[in-house]
Parts: sequence; C-alpha cells; structure tokens
Amino acid sequence: MLRSVILAASRSSRVERLVATAPFTRDVVRRFVAGAKTDDALRATRELVDDGLSVTLDNLGEDTVTGEQANATRDEYLTLLRMLAEAKLTPAAEVSVKLSALGQAFDEQLAYDNARAICAAAEAAGTTVTLDMEDHTTTDSTLDILTKLRKDHPSTGAVLQAYLRRTEADCRDLASAGSRVRLCKGAYREPESVAYQSAREVDKSYVRCLNILMSGDGYPMLATHDPRLIAIGEDRARWFDRDPAHFEFQMLYGIRPEEQARLVGEGYTVRTYVPYGDDWYGYLMRRLAERPANVAFFARALTSRR
Ligand code: FDA
Repeated sequence: MLRSVILAASRSSRVERLVATAPFTRDVVRRFVAGAKTDDALRATRELVDDGLSVTLDNLGEDTVTGEQANATRDEYLTLLRMLAEAKLTPAAEVSVKLSALGQAFDEQLAYDNARAICAAAEAAGTTVTLDMEDHTTTDSTLDILTKLRKDHPSTGAVLQAYLRRTEADCRDLASAGSRVRLCKGAYREPESVAYQSAREVDKSYVRCLNILMSGDGYPMLATHDPRLIAIGEDRARWFDRDPAHFEFQMLYGIRPEEQARLVGEGYTVRTYVPYGDDWYGYLMRRLAERPANVAFFARALTSRR
C-alpha cells in the first residue's frame, strides 16, 4: 500500500516540486546519491575502490523528451568514461545506462546509436556497460537493443527483474558464455498480468532465476540487499563451483554498506551502484518505496531540519 502511494508520488510533478524544494531534502538525497557533478561521482568511486569495492555509475535521468537531452546524456557518459580511465579507475568502475535517458521513448534508433557510442567509449576505457531495466513496456525494446549492441560489444550487460513473469525465460536466453546479467527484484509498479505481486512470489522467482544464472555459462550479477537471497547466492556459488571471479554481488550506494564490506572481506566481488546527477527524484522515490525504514529516515530528517 505504502509502496504504491510512493510510486504514484514518484510520477507527480506537484509532489516533486514540494520534495525538491524542502530544506531537509539535501541531507536525505546525499545518503543515496553521490552528488550532482562528474567530480562527485569520481570522488565517491575512488573512496569505494580504495575500500576494495567495484563500482557501476549511473548518471541520473529518465524522462528524456528531446534529442538534445538524449545527446547531452550520452556526452556526459563519454566524459565520465574518459575521466575514469584517466584516474585509473577502470576496470574497477563501469557504467549503468537507462535507455530512456538516451531517447528510447521517442526514438529507439537514437537510443541505440547513443548506447553504441557509450559502449565504444567504455571499451576504449577498458571497462563495460550494463543496461538498466525500466518498466515492463520497455523490456522487449531494451533486450532487442542489447542483442544488437552485443554484436560489436559482447561484454554489454543487462538487468533482468525477478518480479516479471517472463524473466525465468529471459534468464535462460541470456545464461550463455560472455553474457553479463544483473538480477534484481524490480522497482516499478507493475500490473498483475505481467508481474508477481507478493514479496514471497517475487523472492521465489528470484531464486529460480538465480539458479538458472548460477548454473549457466554467463556472468551472474546478484543485485540485492536481501540477506536470505545473498545467503542463497553464496550457497549456489559453492554448489556450482563458481569462484569470486565468475560472479558478483551488487548493492546500491548508501544501502547496507557494512554488508558490502563483509562480503568483500569474504573474498567476493561486490559492486556498488553509484547514482549521481541533478535528476535524482525518481530514483530517490523508488528507494523510499522499497523500504519503510527509508521513509522513516526521510521523516526523521523532516522533523530534525535546521
Ligand atoms: P528488498 O528491498 O525486498 O529488501 C529485502 C531485505 O533486505 C529487507 O527485508 C532487509 O532485510 C534487507 N534490506 C533492504 N534494504 C535494507 C537497508 N537499507 N538496510 C538494511 N537492510 C536492508 N530495479 C529495476 O527495476 N531496474 C534496474 O535496472 C535496477 N537496477 C539495480 C541495480 C542494483 C545494483 C541494485 C542493487 C538494485 C537495482 N534495482 C533495479 C532495484 C531492485 O529492483 C530493488 O528494487 C532493490 O534492490 C530492493 O530490493 P532488494 O532485493 O534489495 O530487497
């Protein structure tokens, strides 16, 4: 219920104005977002890499409506990749890309061309690109673009969302050699016709998908903060003889940092997803929707505002 209300608010420009201008917001955003500028992203990446973590960077933005905006997002990724390489932060840091930010909603060819330019820049910088997955109306288009990108850039990865009923089949299709798949639960409000609705059903689907990926020939990236699913991931790694070089755990910036450090201490590869940029609203609202404790954190910031 609370999740639905927050996800609905994430689409409301009136609520966005209220939240964005509230004095307490900055502190809350800072917990989940590295900062507004490319330099902020680099600083956060350096700190995480020094702590033994790998990183994937996301330039925030998803409601791109013009070609100029789409090209500006592409250019920001090109700059970021150049700066990461110059700072010798590749291959520890890669980038995550939302095709909607590159024009997917109004010009699929433009989104593909922009993504291809980013993949080429990532390759030149010695690192990889992972395509984020958005709401279910974009899944086919995103997977089609992934197939095309992988012809020239086979290391390009994609996200699959365990809450979608189709995802087990998509995992089977993508569990092949050289294929990088980030498995997450899924963060959007989706109808019953396409998505499991209860947490239990989503968790069971996650485990089925995890089994397919961990027993397959690709490179699984287990993106979750859920202790039960992390334990199952560790168990399957032992069962399928996957050493830490052949799969990884992933978590979001600011969420369970002590668990990220514990897994690094156990010898696993752990990648932190680091968002940066001005356009943080939709991202922040999805994080609040996931976990009532995050809403409480937000509320505490509200009551203790200076
Ligand atoms: P969930 O939120 O259900 O939490 C399960 C349990 O984890 C909790 O009960 C608690 O025990 C523990 N936990 C969670 N948060 C905690 C906290 N703050 N402190 C302590 N314990 C906590 N989604 C999407 O639709 N498309 C995408 O492309 C991506 N990309 C992506 C990349 C990466 C690297 C990650 C980690 C996640 C995504 N997501 C995503 C988001 C994903 O779909 C999902 O919404 C969130 O990861 C939350 O789901 P969890 O699996 O973490 O479990």
